[in-house]
Amino acid sequence: MRLLAAVLCLTSVFASAQDSVFPTKEEKKMARIIEQQLVTTEVKAFLKAKMKLHSKDMRDLVLAVATLKYDEAKRYAQGIANSPRLTEENVPAPAFKVLQDNLRKDANAVIAACDKKSPEELSVAFDSMIATCMSCHNAYLVPMREQKKVEKGEKPAAK
Ligand code: HEC
Repeated sequence: MRLLAAVLCLTSVFASAQDSVFPTKEEKKMARIIEQQLVTTEVKAFLKAKMKLHSKDMRDLVLAVATLKYDEAKRYAQGIANSPRLTEENVPAPAFKVLQDNLRKDANAVIAACDKKSPEELSVAFDSMIATCMSCHNAYLVPMREQKKVEKGEKPAAK
């Protein structure tokens, strides 16, 4: 119930903040309040394939951004922006949809910064993108990892 309230509150914050490509303070705050939760087994296979692509694009993107290779950075950001997303009826929670939409928004901001060849904007957009990866992983990946440990009979990590 607490989660639902948080999500509803988030959604309204998002609706009013949609004009800017960069995250507002509210958006960042909202990302942090998403509680950890488990995803259904049906979405796991999809996510595994998608994350494999993100992982490769992101590794290459880090270097391209760090060395200000705008054309290369743009290409990898396009890979992330265009990767398939879960449809509305398949998302494990409303917050998940917000986060996957945010990732596309962040990747598009990276592309826009590359088009402008603006190091400042690229830095802000890239920062925001990493924060989105982390928010979603904190909410969904970390509990999955902990659950796996429990299934294997290992001790879960202390908080
Ligand atoms: C909307 C939620 C969401 C976003 C945004 C997201 N991820 Fe993920 N990611 C997941 C979930 C859920 C898993 C676990 C999938 C599984 O193993 O079944 C995962 C797993 C991964 C893994 C595998 C890690 C492991 O230990 O198994 C990598 C690598 C990864 N993500 C990279 C990224 C990168 C890079 C970004 C940002 C560019 C990103 N992800 C954004 C939800 C997300």
